[in-house]
Amino acid sequence: MNILILGSGGREHALAWAVKQNPKTDRLIVAPGNAGIAQLAECADIDILDGSAVVAFCEANAIDFVIIGPEAPLAAGVADATRAAGLLTFGPSAQAARLEASKAFTKEICDACAAPTAAYARFTESAPARAYVQTQGAPIVVKADGLAAGKGVIVAMSVDEALAAIDDMFGGEFGAAGAEVVIEEFMAGEEASFFILTDGVNALPIGTAQDHKRVGEGDTGPNTGGMGAYSPAPVLTAALQAQAMEQIVLPTIAEMARRGTPYQGVLYAGLMIDGGQCRLVEYNARFGDPETQVLMLRLGAQALDLLLACAEGRLDQARATWADDHALTVVMAANGYPGAYTKGSVIGGLSALPETSSQMVFHAGTTLRDGQITASGGRVLNVTARGATLAEAQARAYAMVDAIDWPEGFCRRDIGWRAL
Ligand code: AMP
Ligand code: GLY
Repeated sequence: MNILILGSGGREHALAWAVKQNPKTDRLIVAPGNAGIAQLAECADIDILDGSAVVAFCEANAIDFVIIGPEAPLAAGVADATRAAGLLTFGPSAQAARLEASKAFTKEICDACAAPTAAYARFTESAPARAYVQTQGAPIVVKADGLAAGKGVIVAMSVDEALAAIDDMFGGEFGAAGAEVVIEEFMAGEEASFFILTDGVNALPIGTAQDHKRVGEGDTGPNTGGMGAYSPAPVLTAALQAQAMEQIVLPTIAEMARRGTPYQGVLYAGLMIDGGQCRLVEYNARFGDPETQVLMLRLGAQALDLLLACAEGRLDQARATWADDHALTVVMAANGYPGAYTKGSVIGGLSALPETSSQMVFHAGTTLRDGQITASGGRVLNVTARGATLAEAQARAYAMVDAIDWPEGFCRRDIGWRAL
């Protein structure tokens, strides 16, 4: 079959890598793609936020299956447009993607299905929000309701910090995303990610992971999109996964269906684990980045069969087969990230690295210029390896990092520390 993947990051490179290995795949196109993706698929320059442009491209290229990577096209209704055109699609409708696109909506769903999550209140005006923070005290969490590229959440350690966050949000710092603000109880504990495929009725867990959000070693410094990840996450035990399915994921799927807006795609549950229980921190309506890179290295070609079963509404017949293995990815970022960073530096040493089912360098932000791979984003490479143990996966990944010649880039040297 001919397959189109929308997106341009390490997540999409990992999805394309897994899909490409499945014999069902004939033509594989990624839009817009990047320099790493171009080594294994065709790249097409289309506006992935424009549903009619995506449909027209699919029709012109006889696409049989569309896989939507990032949240922006989901929130923009691209899955609605492709489904309306009769195209088999992986990814939720705009209504269902509100589980990521609106934090207030997610809270409403948790209330409706009694899923454990932080206590909260929601506001559309500054004065009552400020008064609420004054009565609740700190630590407290202030969130812009809408999509804010991961920057709309302030975990405030003092009341002053929370008040400043409220002023910023209602002052327009996050645009329309900050028109409504959710203020939440601070949850202590350890965070982990749980990935579940659902066709709207059936649910199939496909793995756990933990990422490292802070830029500095020992989890210090500013937040980033994620500096590394590993799978599985030992903290998410089988018992906790069962609790999360029973109390959070399955009730959410049922509530979405009951409302006439069934959720179809991957549900990424961010969980906070404390005292042997987990609570929902947030949902994402897509695969995690860089978590997908470790999930795909572990799943390999079967990932396509699972995504197809999900899109075709037959997940009840699907099964994920796991080796008893571990995968770890180290993000290499441009010096300066997550602040200002330079673009255009040349990355050497990549072509000498073997690409196998146990090690892959996924590209997150690269461009091919004059025959050379150059850095074009903040997060640039995801150096990913698999092993019988997490320690082995980690050693393999850092051996690859050490073989890459890129003085203008950096990485954390402690990815995996929590689990090791
Ligand atoms: P979110 O975008 O909702 O995932 O929030 C970003 C990060 O903020 C999460 O990954 C958590 O580390 C943190 N966070 C969000 N909500 C809470 C909460 N209620 N308590 C503690 N930390 C939180
Ligand atoms: N790694 C966090 C995310 O994808 O949202």
